[in-house]
Amino acid sequence: MMQVKVVTENFYEITSDMLVFPVYESESITGILAELNTRLGNILQGLFESGEFRGKANETCYIGLAAGLATARLLLVGLGKAEKFTERKICEAAGTVARFIKGKKLGRVAVVLRPDTAKAARCFLEGFIIGSFDMDAYKTDRREMKVTVLELIVPPDAVDEVERGMFKGKVYGEATNFARSLSNEPGSNLTPKGMAMKARQIAAKYGLGIEVYGEEQMAEFGMGAILGVSRGSDEEAQLIVVRYEHPEARKDELLALIGKGITFDSGGLSLKTSEGMEKMKYDMSGAAAVLGAICAIAELKPSVNVVGVLACAENMPSGKALKPGDVIRAMSGRTIEVNNTDAEGRLVLADAITFARQHLGVTRIVDVATLTGAVSIAFGQVYAAVLGNDQLMIDALCRAASEAGERLWQLPLDEEYGKALESDIADCRNSGGKPAGTINGAFFLKAFAADTPWAHIDIASTGWNMENKPYICKGPTGVAVRTLSEWVLSRA
Ligand code: BES
Ligand code: MN
Ligand code: ZN
Repeated sequence: MMQVKVVTENFYEITSDMLVFPVYESESITGILAELNTRLGNILQGLFESGEFRGKANETCYIGLAAGLATARLLLVGLGKAEKFTERKICEAAGTVARFIKGKKLGRVAVVLRPDTAKAARCFLEGFIIGSFDMDAYKTDRREMKVTVLELIVPPDAVDEVERGMFKGKVYGEATNFARSLSNEPGSNLTPKGMAMKARQIAAKYGLGIEVYGEEQMAEFGMGAILGVSRGSDEEAQLIVVRYEHPEARKDELLALIGKGITFDSGGLSLKTSEGMEKMKYDMSGAAAVLGAICAIAELKPSVNVVGVLACAENMPSGKALKPGDVIRAMSGRTIEVNNTDAEGRLVLADAITFARQHLGVTRIVDVATLTGAVSIAFGQVYAAVLGNDQLMIDALCRAASEAGERLWQLPLDEEYGKALESDIADCRNSGGKPAGTINGAFFLKAFAADTPWAHIDIASTGWNMENKPYICKGPTGVAVRTLSEWVLSRA
């Protein structure tokens, strides 16, 4: 466990294993930078002049013997041009620093916090913790982060503000990595029951209420949709409810965070092709994001009541599996022709949404799901899609995302899109084919949200990085943990 703290000594008096000094691109050597340059015997000026280090975004320069400073080693890291500065640059620079340090025996690291604001502190911690994560959980030789103490150096008048920001950043970083570690687990290791076990551990850790419903109870609730998806699998589906309550919360508001928890999506009888199917272990990333957000919320303690609902099942082909053309009845009473068993996410979410409305009495719903491949055609790996029936709520989610350093973009949900989901035999069908795939998925869910304010976030493409990004490496990203948490905080 890494301890984080705020210190007020002069940077040159800090006796850490490594001092990290962020520098803007071609920054003028005045003020604190002049202090550094003088103590280093003009090395900084030399680096700038020779072009060995200019402070470009994520550029690093390691100085092994920092004479003139009390620290043993110095790492300069670039923040890019001051005019183009956003907090994201701090996340990225901190991630770069984390990856530089990882695997090295450096226990105590100190950082000059620039700028010395709460937001910068939050972003540095997030970037550092998120940047420390690798997807090498099953490698025999893992590179571990050996930092035990991370100190942020700030002027005395900034301490309180920075401490708050730092704590939030630590919470968001750890909650995001927790979600990533779940998404990274192979499908055979993290089953719906495994998800329930993880949720029970979280509930015990934070003293949260938890209920777990198995297939027998789902049958009593009439949850034909999630039961249909799970029918082909040997693993029992689990509907997991985790409750965060605050004594001063409004009694007339209960927020629901609902996550798609397909622990493996083979497509069912509408089988996926083998290329890339191994990645379908991360089809529970919506549920992981909800559980991660619940952790963050339990740490930050906003005065609002929240339930996390994880709809967990496995989508497999077998002699018992749903057949294309089968008609199922969802908990709401709506009948669904399953014309494609690979559109299973919307089925499990349909029952989870009805359950949250009818049984839990929630007043607002945000669902998060790796719902459609089509969202990557629309947005690539940059934005997640948001759609819903309540514009103010969608706007609030977009603001929360931007505050959290994540990106959401709204897609439309006009009535015309319903056409593709009409069925000749039932109230609707579950797949509208290729056109407007992401919108169709949301449109299907809209009928189940009914008159409850609801928004849906599709993280199918942003949930998994195909390549290393500045501070989030290749693999599961933990996207939406911070957005959901920030949105819940904004409702307190
Ligand atoms: N889990 C997939 C969506 C997905 C695709 C997530 C790629 C991550 C990466 C979902 O269950 C699915 O299969 N959706 C279908 C829906 C279609 C049949 C209407 C899709 O996107 O092709
Ligand atoms: Mn599918
Ligand atoms: Zn799926």
